[in-house]
Amino acid sequence: MIKIAILGYGTIGSGVVEVLNTNSESIAKRAGDEIEVKYILDLRDFPGDPMEDKVIHNYDVIAEDPEIQVVVEAMGGVEPAYTFVKRALLAGKNVTTSNKALVAKHGAELIAIAREQSINFLFEASVGGGIPIIRPLNSSLTADEIEEITGILNGTTNYMLSKMTFEGLEFDDVLKDAQSRGYAEADPTADIEGYDACRKIAILTSLVCGQQVDFEDIYTEGITKITADDIKYAKAMGRVIKLLATSRKTEEGYCAMVAPFMLSQQHPLYSVNDVFNAIFVHGNVLGDAMFYGSGAGKLPTASAVVADIVDIAKHLHKNILISWSSGKMDLVDKRKAQSRFFVRAAEGREQVKAVFPEAEFVEVPEITGETGFLTALMTEESFEEKAAALKDIRQRIRVV
Ligand code: HSE
Repeated sequence: MIKIAILGYGTIGSGVVEVLNTNSESIAKRAGDEIEVKYILDLRDFPGDPMEDKVIHNYDVIAEDPEIQVVVEAMGGVEPAYTFVKRALLAGKNVTTSNKALVAKHGAELIAIAREQSINFLFEASVGGGIPIIRPLNSSLTADEIEEITGILNGTTNYMLSKMTFEGLEFDDVLKDAQSRGYAEADPTADIEGYDACRKIAILTSLVCGQQVDFEDIYTEGITKITADDIKYAKAMGRVIKLLATSRKTEEGYCAMVAPFMLSQQHPLYSVNDVFNAIFVHGNVLGDAMFYGSGAGKLPTASAVVADIVDIAKHLHKNILISWSSGKMDLVDKRKAQSRFFVRAAEGREQVKAVFPEAEFVEVPEITGETGFLTALMTEESFEEKAAALKDIRQRIRVV
């Protein structure tokens, strides 16, 4: 019997209990032992809940109980999750977490402690919810140098952009709709400003390059400035707008960014709609691979957490090596990155041509009084210099 403690009995914590109950037999077979929830740590009580008698309020009980072999961190946020997780690892307890903020900030340190203790710190659910991507990067794709990893890593914003595309709605209206469906939080900042996707691509890039990539170093733009008119231009070009989190290996190093992009129909992420997530990976020997599925939500995320518990059960007292050292990886300056841009400017075609001689104009008959155009491929720096010569740029969106 493997006894576990769950920190946080919210959406993910209760999902873990549900998954363990729903598939108890098959999970026990795969883990080689039964999994039993001994404690649930939460500030609240849950009168009438079947797990009511497992709920405790004092973390010391868990940290000091030698029977607990696995701690499931499902609280979210950096503190007190970091303090609790570190203490668990130092006490020789394995940990799995779904907490991207914790992993992005302290992943390297927690991985190192687990290694020293010959135990495991696993975090499959921290990126892409139920989609396997951490384990593939750490075990299935280890023959490759990963040259690109690009994902739709936030379900809320993908739902909103899909709704804007299919129904022609404005940003504020789809945000209200997403909130009423429970897809967006009352404070949606982390999703719509790209911060959630930023932490996830920081984790993926750290795994790919084996060093610490600080999320603060990643250029991040959200979707708050995307309008129904931008979507009309995208449609006129046969494109869609998606919030991409992307990381590429260049000759100078890794270049990472989170921003809305206009995708052509040929792009592998073009058809990823609604709340779904997908991650495109290009390896130097593998070529292309795609991981697609439910990137958020109670049961998909809990599925990934429980899979980590099974993996831990199969590797009790044996560390699964994760290559992510605390040495900091300096990212390539975003201004050196190359892109094509879609631009909406108040100037006429002649003035645009004078600045961007290779501009390809885009017409949307119902939008007047401005010029929509695509630039040639150029560095971000070069684009900003040229764009400064136009007085009234209303929008610029990268194109891929
Ligand atoms: N708010 C996140 C999303 C939840 O919409 O994808 C999963 O991290």
